[in-house]
Amino acid sequence: VLSSGDKANVKSVWSKVQGHLEDYGAETLDRMFTVFPQTKTYFSHFDVHHGSTQIRSHGKKVMLALGDAVNHIDDIATALSALSDKHAHILRVDPVNFKLLSHCLLVVVARHHPTLFTPDVHVSLDKFMGTVSTVLTSKYR
Ligand code: HEM
Repeated sequence: VLSSGDKANVKSVWSKVQGHLEDYGAETLDRMFTVFPQTKTYFSHFDVHHGSTQIRSHGKKVMLALGDAVNHIDDIATALSALSDKHAHILRVDPVNFKLLSHCLLVVVARHHPTLFTPDVHVSLDKFMGTVSTVLTSKYR
């Protein structure tokens, strides 16, 4: 459960991330496809090469959805309900992959904002991504 301190940390991270959604989203996907190549199987219809237009545009979509979750941090389940249906019923992404994507996002934030990324903030962002992942994988059965 996200404490009020976690929520404040996540909001403060997001205020720095906000202006770079497409860049950070694309870097997150790029890292995920490189470090965990099995994740590419879900994107067989994509050009998964570094910096492709599809990676940039999908990266931005993922980051906008996370921004939505930040803006509705007290009720993430409602905010991401449609996206949750889509990942469970249409995309059928194996839940293990959410950990891989979350890890890559944390690396991207840490790399671009090293002073902000204290162990405390690391925990909060990890918990936030865990909450979002739970929501997006909650309708599988
Ligand atoms: C589609 C967000 C995790 C695979 C999407 C869309 C969003 C999104 C916003 C677009 C939905 C639409 O167009 O209606 C997220 C978030 C995630 C997450 C916030 C986790 C925090 C994952 C993971 C995978 C994945 C872990 C697989 C490794 C896909 C695929 C699509 C998709 C294949 C469809 C892409 C397309 O054909 O355009 N996701 N996603 N997602 N997601 Fe996720």
